[in-house]
Amino acid sequence: MALQIQLASSDASGAVCDALIVGVCQGVVPSHPTLTVLDKALGGALLEHLKSVEFEGKLDQTAEVPSLGRLKAKKLVLLGLGKAAELDGARLRASLASCVRGSSSGNTRTLHVALPEAELDFRAVGEGVALGAYRFTKYFTGERQPKAELAKVTLHLARGAASAADKKQLELGVAVAAAVAIARDAVNEPPNVLTPEGLAEVARGIARKHKLRLKVLDKKAILAAGMNLHYAVGQGSENEPRFIHLSYVPKKKHKRIVFVGKGITFDSGGLCIKPAAGMGEMKSDMGGAAAVLGMIAAVATVRPDVEVHAIVAAAENMPDGAAYRPADIFTSLDGKTVEIINTDAEGRLVLADALTYATRLKPDIIIDAATLTGAALVALGKTCSAFYATEDELARALERAARSAGEQFWRMPLLEELGEQLKSDVADLKHTADRWGGSISAALFLREFVGKCPWIHCDVAGPVLAERAKGMYPKGGTGHPVLTFLNFVEQAGRPGK
Ligand code: BES
Ligand code: MN
Ligand code: ZN
Repeated sequence: MALQIQLASSDASGAVCDALIVGVCQGVVPSHPTLTVLDKALGGALLEHLKSVEFEGKLDQTAEVPSLGRLKAKKLVLLGLGKAAELDGARLRASLASCVRGSSSGNTRTLHVALPEAELDFRAVGEGVALGAYRFTKYFTGERQPKAELAKVTLHLARGAASAADKKQLELGVAVAAAVAIARDAVNEPPNVLTPEGLAEVARGIARKHKLRLKVLDKKAILAAGMNLHYAVGQGSENEPRFIHLSYVPKKKHKRIVFVGKGITFDSGGLCIKPAAGMGEMKSDMGGAAAVLGMIAAVATVRPDVEVHAIVAAAENMPDGAAYRPADIFTSLDGKTVEIINTDAEGRLVLADALTYATRLKPDIIIDAATLTGAALVALGKTCSAFYATEDELARALERAARSAGEQFWRMPLLEELGEQLKSDVADLKHTADRWGGSISAALFLREFVGKCPWIHCDVAGPVLAERAKGMYPKGGTGHPVLTFLNFVEQAGRPGK
């Protein structure tokens, strides 16, 4: 069931709910109006307790207080929002998400949130609350099945009233979070369920809901279209490859942006098989595709004046009698011959054909997202994506978009000298270079297929799957970088701003 969010006109102290979250900026604790009322209801024990646990409202500081029957809320959670002047949308979103996640359980049905009246980014509030309420529980049975899900959130403002426009933003935030959840769910789904056809089903669901144009190519059609690199990667699996293309075409459009996602639903490495330890994590090798699908669902919700395409190259990389092998040579969609070096470098192959297809749509910008290299993880860790841009202006736009999303991106250089290693003795290109600078040489390989089109490549190998919950990201599928991409598109829809 979709999460309902509403604005209350009443004071938060009388809220009847499973949990009441009160957001408090730093330095206002004793004089905070809501706290004063709650303190009275608790016989003066609240402020004393907050003093003893040194709750000062620092960013992400929390204090949980049982209401012991003296409040109508079952429990009270105080959430530090840090300095009021520094409370932007990104902080508010992350802080609320983390607090909602931490203070709700399988029994929490109703939640009230009280926030200071300061210029609130209502969309970020809606996003934060709904992102925090996300759970992936569909495979639990019996005792482990949650008894309830968070269905209703009520927002109170400490002072002043919210407008109808604020309410709309709040609801938009919840809808955007639902689009992020599409990406999270897809990453969390096991690879026996989320096959390439499973990804196509996700795309069909989005197309139906938002009335988007959808094209899906099956194995035969991929071959017939000349996407031989994509076909080669998928040829060793019983779960046949799919090529997926969703389009959002509004009446008024300032730009055309094409997103491309790597959709390897399971990456065993193929004949160059990966070691057993950690192989299961390769169910998240479709994280780029998940992000691109979540992004277009979010775009179709927000409806900016930009034409947006989401392309997914989906395949499963498996070892088999029919699998592609090192030393094979294939001709890409744009006619370049490629010598296969290592069947575990499958992502750049499916992307190469998808990027060529993308250039044929004559976009202003191509952006791809791919869990492409372990080298990106080694360089930047598990919480930051590496990105490459052919133009500085594009890089700055992506950095701006990431900052307001609260997602981490770091620009890497397209070092020309590493490209030397992609020369093959028997074909136009070798598809891998040596170990050093592995994320860069992968980017250089992809660049061969974008022609002159302005292009950003995001190596999202780390952040699409989290080992532990932090900020707006839960453990498991995070939904990174749906919000960054959405911001990027919205920026492009506001030219001159
Ligand atoms: N999907 C992996 C990259 C990856 C590794 C993502 C770890 C997330 C976590 C990719 O297909 C791969 O196997 N890349 C190889 C390339 C190499 C064979 C040139 C790698 O990075 O080791
Ligand atoms: Mn691989
Ligand atoms: Zn892979």
